[in-house]
Amino acid sequence: MHPRLQFTSPPAFPMSTKLLSSLPQLRRLFTFSALTAIFFSINPFNPSWSSDQRPVSTALDRRPWKDARHAFKGPTDEDARSPCPALNTLANHGFINRSGKEISRSALTSSLTSIYRLSVPLAELLVTGGFLCCADFESEGLSLDALAAHDKIEHDASLVHDNTPLGAAFAPIKVNWTLVNELTTKYPDGLGIRRLSEARATREELSRVEGRPKLDALHGQIAYGEAALTWLVMKDLTSLVRTDTIRQWFGQETFPETFVIPSEEITLHTTSKISSKIGQHMKEFQNHQI
Ligand code: HEM
Ligand SMILES: *[C@@H]1O[C@H](CO)[C@@H](O)[C@H](O)[C@H]1NC(C)=O
Ligand SMILES: *[C@@H]1O[C@H](CO)[C@@H](O)[C@H](O)[C@H]1NC(C)=O
Repeated sequence: MHPRLQFTSPPAFPMSTKLLSSLPQLRRLFTFSALTAIFFSINPFNPSWSSDQRPVSTALDRRPWKDARHAFKGPTDEDARSPCPALNTLANHGFINRSGKEISRSALTSSLTSIYRLSVPLAELLVTGGFLCCADFESEGLSLDALAAHDKIEHDASLVHDNTPLGAAFAPIKVNWTLVNELTTKYPDGLGIRRLSEARATREELSRVEGRPKLDALHGQIAYGEAALTWLVMKDLTSLVRTDTIRQWFGQETFPETFVIPSEEITLHTTSKISSKIGQHMKEFQNHQI
């Protein structure tokens, strides 16, 4: 295994997963996740989590997917994938099980912290949300296709995915390349925070025109968060997400040629700051559209 990826597992949850699965409200789930994140953020007993103890960077260290064992391999028909480009890319490169099935909390958390450089609290928050919404509590771990469950995390007006057909329980997982092409044609110089917000506002507007229900507050926030994380993880030195990044990461679900592991850790605090910026910009665009 690549040395960067040897992380110790986080401690098991103090509560049984059975009890968690019976919590009815997503909102409560997120409160719980936030508390969990805070718990982990002040958790002193595992010094190996500290980001400043990372080994000194080498070329392969900043681009571990260049290692032969982590070469890109698209999913087979039996493999499970999600509507999330970040997670599918991890599976396509074997940083989580290439089958996309039986993914453990610890495998997912450590790949989010090591490859995308999310802080442990932020990774824990996202993974907890994913597991609480979508893991099958009978079997261990998460299957990526379960994340497509409509209106759990998944929502309409995605950037490169079609809306869930009316009445269907699961959203389409396959990327719509027309949407990828539209996005890169409209923003040939790449996307900063404003353009990402405009692109999201455009998709929400289109969804409205098609008579789909407006995203509720929670799913609106989730969508801001996806755009914020995309910018934080994938921006280049000029703070733009390049069109080739959009094509390779959103489209082909592989690591972009120009991508290296971010040099700075991406924290919960930064992500929520950028998320609310995106929310503000989107409101500006929406006010102009009326
Ligand atoms: C570095 C971390 C992550 C980034 C940058 C990221 C980014 C994204 C983006 C950009 C989308 C929207 C795709 C589109 O608009 O077509 C998305 C969707 C999604 N992500 Fe992630 N994600 C991350 C981590 C996670 C985690 C940890 C989970 C759950 C365990 C997750 C679950 C989902 C789900 C369910 C969707 C579908 C939402 C939709 O309807 O568009 N993501 N993600
Ligand atoms: C990956 O997933 C497959 C299918 O669920 C399973 O058979 C295999 O044991 C898993 N591999 C690892 C290393 O966990
Ligand atoms: C992909 O998106 C385009 C543009 O929204 C749409 O016209 C087309 O029907 C979609 N393709 C599929 C296969 O759903």
